[in-house]
Amino acid sequence: MMEHKGFTLWFTGLSGSGKSTLADLVAETLNKKNFRVERLDGDEVRQHLTRDLGFSREDREENVRRISFVAKLLTRNGVVVITSFISPYQEMRKDAREEIGSESFVEVFVKCPLDVCKKRDVKGLYKKAINGEIENFTGVSHPYEVPENPEIIVETDKMTPKECAGGIINELYHLGFL
Ligand code: ADX
Repeated sequence: MMEHKGFTLWFTGLSGSGKSTLADLVAETLNKKNFRVERLDGDEVRQHLTRDLGFSREDREENVRRISFVAKLLTRNGVVVITSFISPYQEMRKDAREEIGSESFVEVFVKCPLDVCKKRDVKGLYKKAINGEIENFTGVSHPYEVPENPEIIVETDKMTPKECAGGIINELYHLGFL
């Protein structure tokens, strides 16, 4: 099998911005190219590795810290790790980058206006957050710090998921990861 270097593709963005959808599409493409790929996704990881954590700043930091550690282990063993977590703070993303290694870290900002995410409301959580049924909800009652220097930005309100995923693959070629 073709040998390739591991790296972590770190998706960040609001709930409903399209992180998981794009992560799945990119994973599918890389699988077809015979890359070893592992997905780490908020909704699944929070039922297992970080099931004890909530959504305070401290808990989100701990969530991202554990994920970064797992991503580091996989990355250094040649796996392409694709994570999809809101990861709302600049500092926690910087820590993740340092833990995994800057040369193996690709931050993807999944950009989508809050209004569009609210309208999509895939999981019905924005409605609950606005009604006060969920606390500390990102974009409603908890901050999201926009990435300052992501390697890749995709605008999911302007392009289809397929186009966004294709753009990410192209960028990975340009950056020398593929
Ligand atoms: S992170 O901030 O710690 O990176 P993570 O991506 O793991 O968040 O989890 C976000 C997912 O948890 C959301 O997509 C949503 O389905 C669910 N969720 C439940 N409560 C909240 C909340 N208060 N804020 C954001 N997401 C929440």
